Amino acid sequence: MSTAILDMPPRITNRNATVPAGVDRIVLTGFMGSGKTTVGALLAEELGWKFFDLDHEIERREGRSVPQIFAESGEQRFRQAEAGALASLLGQRRVVIALGGGAPEELGNRLLLEQTPRTAVVYLAAPFEVLVERCRKQPGATERPVLADLAVAAARFSTRRPHYERLAAHTIETEGDSATESVRVVLERLNAGRG
Ligand code: S3P
Repeated sequence: MSTAILDMPPRITNRNATVPAGVDRIVLTGFMGSGKTTVGALLAEELGWKFFDLDHEIERREGRSVPQIFAESGEQRFRQAEAGALASLLGQRRVVIALGGGAPEELGNRLLLEQTPRTAVVYLAAPFEVLVERCRKQPGATERPVLADLAVAAARFSTRRPHYERLAAHTIETEGDSATESVRVVLERLNAGRG
């Protein structure tokens, strides 16, 4: 099965990519394994912008890992920390932010994203089976609390997909594409100004 996006991408050396002047923040959304972190880091590098991974930001603020937060304090506490970290990151300009896969399930996060001006949300899409396969190949594959039960994860994917789609100005199909190719498509779509 093709899981291309999570293979180590070749480095992009050309850093003169641009996006329309009205865009100050690019937010990548999608389920676990969609490549948000890999694509986001490359995209930020290409633009010369800062990159933030929301999970890493939560871990930095909390001083413990995401699995630890789930195990010690529960998912609700994690969602609170996630909402706080997202609000804080959205205060910055010239940033690429990779959301956690569950962030758009929270109404408050969706409203915040919709109401933050100059913010382009991009959905990195792939079929559920491809996403699971990519997650399995990643280091720390067993540590994702939401993937512990595949049937539950599949149900969550179905619940979330309409939120990802509605929130995003652009949906990028990533199945079979490398991260570099996905970055190219994201830039192309943002500059074409269509969804
Ligand atoms: C979650 C996805 C994870 C992380 C947490 C919960 C989810 O982020 O926020 O384990 O609910 O789908 P990634 O999508 O970056 O793996």
